[in-house]
Amino acid sequence: MDSYSLPYTFSQRAQQLTSSTIREILKVTERPEVISFAGGLPAPGGFPVEEIKAAFDRVLSENGKSALQYGPTEGYTPLRQWVAEDFKRRGADVSPEEVLIVSGSQQALDMLGKLFVDPGSKVLVEAPSYLGALQSFSLFEPAYASVPTDDGGLIPEAITDELAAGARFLYALPNFQNPTGVSLDLARRQKLVERCAALQLPIVEDDPYGELRYAGEPLPGLLELGRKVGATIVRLGTFSKVLAPGLRLGYIVAPRPIIAKLVQIKQATDLHTSTVSQMAVYETIKSGFLDKHLPAVRELYKRQCGYMLDAMEEHFPNTVSWNRPEGGMFIWVTLPEHIDGTQLLARAIERNVAFVPGAPFYAGQGKTNTLRLSFVTVSEERIREGIAILGELLREG
Ligand SMILES: Cc1ncc(COP(=O)(O)O)c(C=O)c1O
Repeated sequence: MDSYSLPYTFSQRAQQLTSSTIREILKVTERPEVISFAGGLPAPGGFPVEEIKAAFDRVLSENGKSALQYGPTEGYTPLRQWVAEDFKRRGADVSPEEVLIVSGSQQALDMLGKLFVDPGSKVLVEAPSYLGALQSFSLFEPAYASVPTDDGGLIPEAITDELAAGARFLYALPNFQNPTGVSLDLARRQKLVERCAALQLPIVEDDPYGELRYAGEPLPGLLELGRKVGATIVRLGTFSKVLAPGLRLGYIVAPRPIIAKLVQIKQATDLHTSTVSQMAVYETIKSGFLDKHLPAVRELYKRQCGYMLDAMEEHFPNTVSWNRPEGGMFIWVTLPEHIDGTQLLARAIERNVAFVPGAPFYAGQGKTNTLRLSFVTVSEERIREGIAILGELLREG
């Protein structure tokens, strides 16, 4: 049936959506025999099921009626206060009025697209960047411009006056970036916020993985540094990786005029984030639970990362290079120029191993000889098995 005979007409926005070939290929990863390094899911072993269950129980038995009622668009006040306090501890003077609770940071990305992007607006992104953000912003038809990166992540000096001219914002992931696992060092963070302050270029700082550091020293975020030099920073945080993604709970920290507009946008989107989810998460974390819980999650991720790095060391040919992440969930692999990640995936799938090729993570012309490996949800044995198979395929060329 051609589109003219359909009894409905999709918006142009919807018509431009295409289902990606990679998504189609990766459907096979649902088969249990496939060893999948493709997923971006956190390790379920890190979900504090009992504590969250107890928190929901307490909230519903002590405060059930309000927990099940509509709530303010801005979010549950004690949770906003908790977020503000948490930033104060890190050295950023954030007030609760600068915090907006959202239904996961993916919703924040959608709302920021609505707030900042007109068709053709310039948006600066890292090369590569988080695919989910590119998808979210793309609905608002930006003209992406990629900021060059190297082994140390985004290069602040590469944000020239010309590149920044007219840009609505820079989308940056300073900690254990998705997809590369790379973090910006302190000097780059400092240069970046200074440069963006001078250029009056807002930064959208997406930080789902900052708390999952298992090596090296913790570094201040762009919000903490940027506020000291007058940069406009919109910081996205989430409880998905520190508690559980099924809660669908995240937050935005931004200057009040930005929060005020986002509140209007959120009202139109979903009125507010689930009251019961917000109250239960607050109940879970209010007395310092994360300080006790996170060391175990970090330990788990560190172990998993180690299994994969050891296996890669053993099985990958020396024509292949990769980084050693200090946190988060991903390792980025660079193949010899002549090996295309998507073609390698097709061969790997035949051997029941999956990963995500690198090219889709680029807004512009991508490096096709790259791929992303996720190590957190696969057992040690299957990591070794899967990496050995990839090693064989890579030696075949
Ligand atoms: C960089 C980044 N941003 C945002 C998200 C969305 O997270 P959530 O909506 O669960 O908070 C993810 C999820 O994996 C991510 O990797």
